Amino acid sequence: MAEKALEGVRILDFTHVQSGPTCTQLLAWFGADVIKVERPGAGDATRQQLQDIPDVDSLYFTMLNHNKRSITIDTKNPKGKEVLWRLVKECDVLVENFAPGALARMGFSWEKLHEANPKLIVASVKGFGPGRYQDCKVYENVAQCAGGSASTTGWRDDLPMVTGAQIGDSGTGLHLALGIVTALYHRTHSGEGQRVDCAMQDGVLNLCRVKLRDQQRLAHGPLKEYSQFGEGIAFGDATPRAGNDSGGGQPGRILKCKGWEHDPNAYIYFITQAAVWEPICDIIGEPGWKTDPGYATPKARLPHLNEIFTRIEAWTMKHDKFEAMDILNEYDIPCGPILSMKEIAEDESLRATGTVVEVDHPTRGKYLSVGNPIKLSNSKTEVTRSPLLGEHTAEILKDVLGYNDNEVAEIENSGAVGQVSKLAAE
Ligand code: COA
Repeated sequence: MAEKALEGVRILDFTHVQSGPTCTQLLAWFGADVIKVERPGAGDATRQQLQDIPDVDSLYFTMLNHNKRSITIDTKNPKGKEVLWRLVKECDVLVENFAPGALARMGFSWEKLHEANPKLIVASVKGFGPGRYQDCKVYENVAQCAGGSASTTGWRDDLPMVTGAQIGDSGTGLHLALGIVTALYHRTHSGEGQRVDCAMQDGVLNLCRVKLRDQQRLAHGPLKEYSQFGEGIAFGDATPRAGNDSGGGQPGRILKCKGWEHDPNAYIYFITQAAVWEPICDIIGEPGWKTDPGYATPKARLPHLNEIFTRIEAWTMKHDKFEAMDILNEYDIPCGPILSMKEIAEDESLRATGTVVEVDHPTRGKYLSVGNPIKLSNSKTEVTRSPLLGEHTAEILKDVLGYNDNEVAEIENSGAVGQVSKLAAE
């Protein structure tokens, strides 16, 4: 089998919850040896959060920690520290997303790490970068709020809204992974490690770039592609919430499809792309709009978007979302069904590409997960189950650090690595 892209790269994974684990899972999928360090007895807190089956690692944990090895080490125990310093010297990258200052409080400041292993890349996720909030602990929705997403999501006359996409956690994990492989590439010619820092607020803002664009456009007049312009509602001094208006230059909306009265996902996203305006007019039965000066050009249509989408919806409501897709796709009209998680779980194409995978787990049995969304032609991802707590402790002590059986027993007796779970030891 071909070598994986990151084969030979060893990651010391101090991550927990979602943001850091998303990053290290991606690196593991690309072939890195990811050694997840967990607190003896407890492990990553998500093992026990949102548990659907008693005493079985939660889906929250299993879905974010595939292809990793788990070692339990008490980072505050002197013997545990000794083991960790040995691992620091054997690894290429240390990744962490502890609360601000926690890594240094453990004794692993950047200065000491760099001195111990000048080639080590030290990658961190924090909620905020330097500034007034730098010491704050942060979870997903806090980042969505502080990064500009919540104030621009939802309905204009309603509360700010968070989105189901985990742009703060998984989004920042993605940013961090890019920073790490960039630093690894740089190291190939500089020979030096460096720090990679990603703040969740920055990651969210990066994904909300178009909303900062609109903030600046506001100084030069109303945002004409927003529905509120067509409704004659004045703009304030900040980018407003735009409901389901498209964020780009081609107006779009979510429209009802056949069955919407009883199916909460019987909707389609419909984009009135300028290039296909004529077929749209023919399909919805308004051929006159092709030449009518009030509708014929994108600019002329802006004040009439509500009327136009109401008319299009009268057509989409006659078709189910998949039928509508088939008809519209024939004319290259950009549109997409609103898919429920149930429909996604059952989607054959997503299974075939490995974007949705079924994984077997010794205590849970079979479950579905999201596989690697990034496809490399010469480095195929094989998703393997998440490790049990401390499953690879002895293996790592021996194979990576070269301890013999007596030394492993001594480390175990010191309390530095805790009790290995019975199942893991089998
Ligand atoms: N052995 C011994 N102690 C350990 C340990 C181990 N293996 N692993 C962690 N700990 C200790 C830490 O040293 C820390 O101790 P300290 O506070 O005495 O220094 C303690 O566990 C708690 O770590 P912390 O990161 O503060 O966890 P938390 O559960 O209180 O906070 C977050 C969780 C996510 C809010 C916080 O880690 C954070 O803000 N992270 C950065 C932003 C982030 O990634 N957020 C998104 C998470 S998806």
